[in-house]
Amino acid sequence: MLDRPDAAVLASEPHDDFRNGEPVSDRYTIAIELSDHSWVQFDTAQRSWGLDHSSRLLITVLFVLLSSGLIASVASRYLARPVQRFADAAETFGAGAPAVPLQLSGPLEIREAAAAFNAMQERIQHLMDARTEMVTAISHDLRAPLTRMRMRGEFIDDGEQQRKLFRDVDEMQAMVEASLAFFRLDGQQEEMTRFELSELILTVVDDFRDIGQLVESPDLMPMVYQGRPLALKRVLTNLIENAVKYGSRARVALKAQNSQVIITIDDDGPGVPPTLLAKLFLPFFRIEVSRNRATGGFGLGLPSARSIIRNHGGELTLENRQPHGLRAIVLLPMSPK
Ligand SMILES: Nc1ncnc2c1ncn2[C@@H]1O[C@H](COP(=O)(O)OP(=O)(O)OP(=O)(O)O)[C@@H](O)[C@H]1O
Ligand SMILES: [Mg+2]
Repeated sequence: MLDRPDAAVLASEPHDDFRNGEPVSDRYTIAIELSDHSWVQFDTAQRSWGLDHSSRLLITVLFVLLSSGLIASVASRYLARPVQRFADAAETFGAGAPAVPLQLSGPLEIREAAAAFNAMQERIQHLMDARTEMVTAISHDLRAPLTRMRMRGEFIDDGEQQRKLFRDVDEMQAMVEASLAFFRLDGQQEEMTRFELSELILTVVDDFRDIGQLVESPDLMPMVYQGRPLALKRVLTNLIENAVKYGSRARVALKAQNSQVIITIDDDGPGVPPTLLAKLFLPFFRIEVSRNRATGGFGLGLPSARSIIRNHGGELTLENRQPHGLRAIVLLPMSPK
């Protein structure tokens, strides 16, 4: 290279000792001896950006931490989104809404779990549909023998026995009709439309007032809602009917809070023993004392109301009021599922 095959060439790594045991440099260095015995030294450039070693180290550590944090958050969001969709679907279906299959996306394990969830949801939906069909069929098929029993009753000579038989047959017929209406309602889906909720409430309230019932609805604020108006009208009718039937008067209120619509129906009646509150939502459940002619009914008002509200992605609950009375609370999401 320099026409000096015997020229000395020295190379060092950071912190290498050479030449009198002194560290030459803390970088990679090459030194070549020239013919006049002077040395020319090459070393690698080092960018310090005008910062000392510890600041550079700190910046490097911060950069590594930030970038790994960023990667972790992107990855966890990628994993969390399908899990969130799972949770939402399970909650909606669990609340009684019709089964909607989950979209199969995301990592393989999540896709497999979603497929298993969809299969399970479909099986449960089939079971529920089969149950509804069976009860509807039984109720339907009971109509004919009941009509025959009524006709045969005409031949009973004992007037007292005939009257009792007719009363039982009438009651069974009414029960069959109520069951058919309940299960038909469960299956049919009314279209979602936008309507004025406060006006719908007022219509129901007016219907009750027209037949002389005490129903108040002070200052209902106007609210446009997207839902199934006929079904919601049925819910309001059932709840107000209960309030006036078991509590003699009803007060209806409407408000919006945290992207939810809250409708409350209060009465000043005796309320319900706390242990029975949850049972009132079971079909045909009635509290024993109210099982009389004056308050007749089959215990289908609350279960059908809850089923409609859950179909809107909402919830219907009951709680006792102080000092006495019952409050029915309807929670509806602003944007129903
Ligand atoms: N506001 C209320 N105060 C006290 N008890 C109530 C009230 N609402 C409902 N209940 C009790 O809950 C039971 C079930 O109510 P639900 O509306 O489901 O059926 P129902 O009113 O008996 O009959 P229907 O099918 O005609 O509505 C009632 O029989 C009654 O005992
Ligand atoms: Mg009722």
